[in-house]
Amino acid sequence: MKEITKFYKRFVFNFKNKINLDIENVNNKSLNELFNHFGTDKGTEVLNPYSKESNEIHGHGFAKFYEKEFKHYKNKKLNILEIGTWEGASSAAFLNYFPNATIYCIDKNFRFKFKSKRITFFNCDINNKKDMNRFSSKFNNINFKIIIDDASHILSDMIKSLKFFFQQLDSNGIFVIEDFNAPVYFEALNDTKGKELFMNNLLKNIMKKKKFKSNILSNSDQEYLFKNIKDIKIFKGKTNISDIAFITKK
Ligand SMILES: C[S@@+](CC[C@H](N)C(=O)[O-])C[C@H]1O[C@@H](n2cnc3c(N)ncnc32)[C@H](O)[C@@H]1O
Repeated sequence: MKEITKFYKRFVFNFKNKINLDIENVNNKSLNELFNHFGTDKGTEVLNPYSKESNEIHGHGFAKFYEKEFKHYKNKKLNILEIGTWEGASSAAFLNYFPNATIYCIDKNFRFKFKSKRITFFNCDINNKKDMNRFSSKFNNINFKIIIDDASHILSDMIKSLKFFFQQLDSNGIFVIEDFNAPVYFEALNDTKGKELFMNNLLKNIMKKKKFKSNILSNSDQEYLFKNIKDIKIFKGKTNISDIAFITKK
């Protein structure tokens, strides 16, 4: 039944009218202006993208960190993967910020509302084995220079994403985890009942190459991360809960 529903949703999605980003003129904007323009909460002044009723202006203010960490890559030909794209606001902003990048967008829902020659949307639930196998067989020859995890922010999901997708990151590539401390602030996102370290401690242990207990990251996963992570930078954006990590691969 689930497969039929998904098939139907995919069918409707493929025929849905989408906004063509290749003919939108949003040149010469800073990344923060692009975030605000498209309405992602990565910006500083956006209406709550998840509630049409709310008039509250908010935003994490992540652009300054992205611009600093990504400046060397701005004009390069590269692949970017965003995990968790909602309607595609941040993907649209990145498409305009990186004029030569191809953006791969994955989400478990079909709300993505944009299209471009440089955007590929792939419907995928990171907790669904079939979806992940489909992802692997379709994109196994693609390496990403930048991977951004902005999906559920559930603790186990963030650890699984790091385990799975980090392997497809290019050398010197950057893996970003947005709102990585969310499970500390929001009980509902802390789904592991103490069986996994919170991301801040997990990242600290990785940097110190210190093994830790985990049901998700095996000994060999941890060794892989110890061996392949060059650097981890952590920043706080505009609000107390706006934590972001930039993990650079060797
Ligand atoms: C915070 S929103 C993304 C916002 C978007 N990056 C932006 O800045 O405009 C989180 C998205 O993650 C998706 N998501 C949540 N759990 C997921 C999962 N297990 N697999 C794939 N996508 C997931 C949700 O459907 C939602 O669209």
